Amino acid sequence: MSNPITPSSAEPVVTASDPIPVPVNRIPTPAATPPDILRCAYMEIVVTDLAASRKFYVDVLDLVVTEEDEHTVYLRSFEEFIHHNLVLRQGPVAAIAAFSYRVRSPEDLDRAVAFYTELGCRVERRAEGYVKGIGDSVRVEDPLGFPVEFFYDVEHVERLAWRYDLYTPGALVRLDHFNQVTPDVPRAVAHMEDLGFRVTEDIQDEAGTTYAAWMRRKPTVHDTAMTGGDGPRMHHVAFATHEKHNIIAICDKLGALRMSDVIERGPGRHGVSNAFYLYIRDPDGHRIEIYTQDYYTGDPDNPVVTWDVHDNQRRDWWGNAVVPSWYTDASLVLDLDGEPKPVVSRTDDSELEVTIGADGFSYTRKGDDAQGFKLGNTL
Ligand SMILES: [Fe+2]
Repeated sequence: MSNPITPSSAEPVVTASDPIPVPVNRIPTPAATPPDILRCAYMEIVVTDLAASRKFYVDVLDLVVTEEDEHTVYLRSFEEFIHHNLVLRQGPVAAIAAFSYRVRSPEDLDRAVAFYTELGCRVERRAEGYVKGIGDSVRVEDPLGFPVEFFYDVEHVERLAWRYDLYTPGALVRLDHFNQVTPDVPRAVAHMEDLGFRVTEDIQDEAGTTYAAWMRRKPTVHDTAMTGGDGPRMHHVAFATHEKHNIIAICDKLGALRMSDVIERGPGRHGVSNAFYLYIRDPDGHRIEIYTQDYYTGDPDNPVVTWDVHDNQRRDWWGNAVVPSWYTDASLVLDLDGEPKPVVSRTDDSELEVTIGADGFSYTRKGDDAQGFKLGNTL
């Protein structure tokens, strides 16, 4: 239900609640209470060359090794106190094995089992956990096709926040969010709202097509985003730095190492989220975002921000182009047997196409005909 609370001339549009239309094909809302999710906690990534990936994440990005063995590396950020934020596991196909969320209590694992069982999803539970450092865990293939994990029990490790002797100029201090590619964004949003997520921002067009939505549990812009495209796939996982200059330092280091080709997009300032950003690709092509300085969203009446898909500043506040690979490339996700999930094509309009296709256009000042359209200049 749209409920404007700012003048209609303002861009983007701010509303009091989720403005995304409820789809007719929506996934049923379970009667069961959803688990109380605290935050995105870690991602388990399958890599095809563990040594190369370790070099990228540890030697280049300076993530902290909590523990490792011949097949697996457990990494965390400087402010983290749980065992890890990223698991690199050697495997035959580069893909994502789990999007993992921490829940508020052990009882929330029972709630997760009941919630997804009612939805008819595949549900597994392991008291000993699936990875080191994590205890009792529930893994599901959610109705959108993603492998999702919930846990409470976790091994605490040293929070390195005060260890400035260890900090590097581009230190990654927190896991910030996931970003998932799904063909039907409104359907995905409705399901995630059933799971307790709330929409912070979204991108739509005049016809009501929704191209992406950002959704939160913790009081930041998001714990995950739903990006419209062929899916289920993983678009990126994002780590936060303290400040913008830390992201510049990462770019400088990549240049010094003659690795500037891993920079896919940015650095820049997002319109959506207002955060400073950089997108890079790991040795398998998994996309990592470095992200900092979005805004607080913890009040229950946090306003929702809707961007026009034709607004040239929505994805880069300075109007810089989005490269096509950013829209088209993403990582496969695995089912609970470790097999890649089939990818379903998006049938709704594609953001890439509507902003640069035959009928596409974008604007910097809505209604300013004198500027013309930046056809071909921006995605
Ligand atoms: Fe992101």
